[in-house]
Parts: sequence; structure tokens; C-alpha cells
Amino acid sequence: MIIFVGMPGSGKSTVGRQLARRLGVEFVDSDQRIEQDLGCSIRSFFEREGEERFRDIEAETLDVLTLQGGPGVLSTGGGAVLRESTRQRLRARGRVIYLHALPDDIYRRVRHDTTRPLLQGGNPVQRLCTLYEQRDGLYRETAHYVVETGRPTVATLVNMVAMQLELDELAAHPAGGS
Ligand code: S3P
Repeated sequence: MIIFVGMPGSGKSTVGRQLARRLGVEFVDSDQRIEQDLGCSIRSFFEREGEERFRDIEAETLDVLTLQGGPGVLSTGGGAVLRESTRQRLRARGRVIYLHALPDDIYRRVRHDTTRPLLQGGNPVQRLCTLYEQRDGLYRETAHYVVETGRPTVATLVNMVAMQLELDELAAHPAGGS
């Protein structure tokens, strides 16, 4: 199972979906699964029940999704790595890829988005910087690979991830190795 982690707006769902299509495997976005299960948007759930309650549901959903042997490709919510138990599970159950993006680049991509509760109101750039400072180390701790997103296209990013996975496969099973 290939698992994407990273900041909100780093491209986990877009790159994950395209990679799954390319590999011909199932793709699941854990946030979408949570919204289906809850029957409402994450934003309204946050407003009604608060962040901690959301984190409980997120941890449970990721546990179930990764235990089942799961989809071929899974994209997670930006806060999935906040709990140590989830970090350990993700790393043990899949090949984890951190799509690394800097706050300024993320802001460019998400500035018109109203669905992400943690980025609404106030100063979103400042909030992104704070989240980045809190989480960059946690994403790195969880991931087997870090892929720089910067400004390449989605197709280039998908190629970069696919190449990384192929190299990994080659290193694990060297052809004609003696
Ligand atoms: C969150 C990111 C969101 C979603 C929720 C909380 C976060 O997912 O899980 O709004 O804490 O960063 P994306 O990373 O897909 O935006």
C-alpha cells in the first residue's frame, strides 16, 4: 500500500488518485471516506464536535483502512500524523510518501478553498507556517520518502513518485543479483 502524507494543499489526493490510475489499483482518500461515514462535511463536523473528536474518528478510519490490506493508494488528511500511534501504523503498514510543500506554495494553491477548517479566517499564511513548523518533522518521521512538490506539474510529481517506488523495488529485489 502506498500512503501519502503532507500538509493540507500539498497535492496528496490529486497525486494519489493519478498514481493509482497509472498503477491500476484502487485509490481511497481518507477524508472522503470520513465524510461518507459521517454524512456531513469535515468542516461542519469540526464546527459542531471540535477537533479532538475529529482526530478520534480520523485515527479509527486510518486504522481500518490500512488494516484491511486496503486500497493500493491512500491519501490521508494533513493532521493524520499528529498521533504517534497513527504515525507508527502508517509507517508499518505501507510505503509512506511525504509530499513536501512550503507554506507560500500551499497558500497559492488553497487561497480560494473554503472547505479546510484550519485555514479559515484570520491570517492563513501565518497559520500555514505554524502548522508547517509543528508538522514537518512528524511527516518526515512517518515517511519512507520525501518528494519535493515545489512547482512541477501533477504528471511530473506522479512520475517522480513512480520512479522512487521502482527504485525501491529494484533495491529490494536486484535483478540477476549474485
Ligand atoms: C486537516 C486537513 C484536512 C482534513 C481536516 C484537517 C489538517 O485534510 O483532514 O480539515 O489538520 O491539516 P487535507 O490535508 O486533505 O486538507
